[in-house]
Amino acid sequence: MVARPPLMVVVDRMTVDDLPGVEEIERESFTTPWPPHAYRTELETNKWAHYLVARYGDQLVGFAGIWLMVDEAHVTTFAVRKTWRRQGVGERLLIALLDLSEAHGGREATLEVRPSNHSARRLYEKYGFVLVGVRPHYYSDDNEDALIMTTDRLAGRQMRDRVARLRAAVAKRPDIEVGDDGLPIGRPADADPQAEDGTGEGAAGEDGAADGRRAIAPDVLRPSSIRKSR
Ligand SMILES: CC(C)(COP(=O)(O)OP(=O)(O)OC[C@H]1O[C@@H](n2cnc3c(N)ncnc32)[C@H](O)[C@@H]1OP(=O)(O)O)[C@@H](O)C(=O)NCCC(=O)NCCS
Repeated sequence: MVARPPLMVVVDRMTVDDLPGVEEIERESFTTPWPPHAYRTELETNKWAHYLVARYGDQLVGFAGIWLMVDEAHVTTFAVRKTWRRQGVGERLLIALLDLSEAHGGREATLEVRPSNHSARRLYEKYGFVLVGVRPHYYSDDNEDALIMTTDRLAGRQMRDRVARLRAAVAKRPDIEVGDDGLPIGRPADADPQAEDGTGEGAAGEDGAADGRRAIAPDVLRPSSIRKSR
C-alpha cells in the first residue's frame, strides 16, 4: 500500500465552483449574509477584488476577500466554517491577504469590524491592526458602530517582522487531526463561544450566527462609494 501524505489546509484563489461552499459558510457566519450572486459579481466583474479560500482536501473551510486599489488594501469579508474555527485557518487566510496586499503595492491594510466581534478583533490585533477610528452606526442591520482598524506600513520593518514571526508559528502548528466525520478533533472549548451560549463573538442573530465584518456592498462596485451593506 502506498502511504498518502497527510492533508493540510491550503489557501487558494476562490473560483465560481467554490460558491456553494462559500454560501454555506456565509450563512452560518453572518446574520446578514451577502446574497449568492454577490460573490459571483465580485469574482467576475470587480478588477480590484481578490478572493481566497482555505481548503482541507475537498472541504472548503474558510474564505476571505480584499479590495486592492492602488495602494489601498481593504478587507471586505472573512469567515471560517464554524466546525473549523480555532485551528489556525483564519491566520492562514489573513497571512495570505497581507501577502497579496504587499505584492500589489498596498501601503497598509484596513478593515471594519464590530466592537462586539471579539474573536475577529483579537485575530486582527495579533496581526498588527490597531484602532484608528469609528464609523458611527455603520452596520445597517442593527446600527452597531464599526471600528476601523489599520496596520502599520506593510513593507515596514515592524509589520514584516511580526508577520514573519506569526507565519513561522503557523507553519510549526501540528497537522489538524480530522475524525471519521471529516471534522477536526479536539477543538478548544472556546472555539465558538456564541454557538454555545449566544453571547460570544459578534452580534447574535436569531439563528445564533456570528456577525461583524465589512460594510461594502459587493454589488455596488464603486470604490469611491464604500457604504453600508445593509
Ligand atoms: C474571526 C474568525 C475568522 C477567526 O477564524 P479562526 O480560524 O477561528 O481563527 P484562528 O484559529 O486562526 O485564530 C487566530 C487568532 O484569532 C483570535 N481568536 C480566534 N477565535 C477566537 C475566540 N473564539 N476567542 C478569542 N480569540 C479568538 C486569537 O487571537 C487567535 O490566536 P491564538 O490561537 O493565538 O489565541 C472566525 O471566528 C469567524 O469566522 N467568525 C465569524 C465571521 C466573522 O466574524 N468574520 C470577521 C468579520 S470582521
